[in-house]
Amino acid sequence: MKVTVVGSGYVGTTTALVLAGLGHQVIGYDIDAGKVERLNDGELPFTEPGLDQMLRDLLGSGRITFTSDSRSAVTESEILMISVGTPSMPNGGADLTYLRQVLDTIAAHIDGPKIVVTKSTVPIGTNRWMKQRLSDIIDTQKYPVEVISNPEFLREGEALYDSLHPSRTVIGGENESAMEQVKKLYESLQTTYLVCNYETAEMIKYASNGFLAAKISFINEIARLADRVGADIRGVAKGMGMDPRISPHHLYAGIGYGGSCFPKDVDELLYFGSQQKTELHLLRQVKRINDSQIAWFADKMQSILPLEGKRIAVLGVAFKENTDDQRESPGIKMIEQLLGRGVQEIRVIDPTVASLEQIHWSKGFDRTQLSRVGVLTDAREAVAGAHAVVLATPWPQFADYPWEEWAQIAESTYFFDGRNYLDPVEMRSKGWHFTGIARGE
Ligand code: UGA
Repeated sequence: MKVTVVGSGYVGTTTALVLAGLGHQVIGYDIDAGKVERLNDGELPFTEPGLDQMLRDLLGSGRITFTSDSRSAVTESEILMISVGTPSMPNGGADLTYLRQVLDTIAAHIDGPKIVVTKSTVPIGTNRWMKQRLSDIIDTQKYPVEVISNPEFLREGEALYDSLHPSRTVIGGENESAMEQVKKLYESLQTTYLVCNYETAEMIKYASNGFLAAKISFINEIARLADRVGADIRGVAKGMGMDPRISPHHLYAGIGYGGSCFPKDVDELLYFGSQQKTELHLLRQVKRINDSQIAWFADKMQSILPLEGKRIAVLGVAFKENTDDQRESPGIKMIEQLLGRGVQEIRVIDPTVASLEQIHWSKGFDRTQLSRVGVLTDAREAVAGAHAVVLATPWPQFADYPWEEWAQIAESTYFFDGRNYLDPVEMRSKGWHFTGIARGE
């Protein structure tokens, strides 16, 4: 089938590549001509395991091309899959500016029947609004247009695996034949289809992310208590997860969730709830716990090592491992928290960052403090002379560093593991004064 994927961001590019990999003829469209050129040159604009090779292979086979020409993007394919950003506005609602622009572009060039598939995470009610809007700006008698909601459930860092092994494929819409067409896109995958109306499809996406965020805040809250009483939160989560009704996934305690999805989607649900005069009390607390988790861990650090005037190496600014995405990154918030507590010098290590300019600070962060932050590419250098190390992102390479040798070059050997990633017994045997989150001591 011929598909145009509108928006070559993280989800759009991944989706375009996966569809091309499944044998479809795919056009990736983006208004950013520079990005399009780089993609056509085989350069992926983000880090995601397995995808750069896939991009080069598929470009070679001719099954995918990228363009910034809106006319051909619309006219060449019958299926137009929308994957543009829907960032949060200050009130928590999603900003649909890009989506509106896409609908205008479709209306400007439409030359035949189209199925518009919404991949972007959009607020509940948006697909129905899109259908109305398209029929307002297009002569749909002449050019029939259908809208289908088809949310994605892939995790960054695992995008390829998740796309090829979907837990489910949600198809929300009103038109049987358009829904069948969209199903055909995925027919070579083993998946279970869930066919429903627009609102149900949209809500499945938000409720899933809200629930996963709730699992994380739940385990983080229990971890605060476990930390006081000497319970091992990893054991607690393991024991809970053995009950299939609970499942072991997304029950890892840490310094909170980040990324482009959970924080934004929880905010959007809260905003939507208030619009609908339905206060979502549980999700409000989920957010509150997450927003205070870094300060909770910093308090714990402070009780062990007074932070003022210290030199601290922070490992990880990507919001999680195997990605260069820093949106809502707990690592970055941790650095900002430490600076606020008077730390004298922060040395940042992350495999995806080579300079200070590559770090995206939170809105409202006082940048005058940046004179106290440096990015290093040599982790040994970051640890040498430091008073403490804080692990904020569980990059696998952090486990392989020669910690025994480095305990000798640090000024003092405090290690704070914000992700419960390293083994306390092993780290202590290597000379570190090790603190995690509720490790049962
Ligand atoms: C999340 C969902 O997992 C995907 O199913 C969904 O499709 C995606 O959002 C989306 O809406 O596009 P993602 O944000 O890539 O995926 O990453 P996760 O692996 O879910 O991690 C999110 C954050 O939670 C990270 O900061 C991670 O470190 C943290 N986390 C995750 C925990 O603190 N504990 C856990 O047990 C799991």
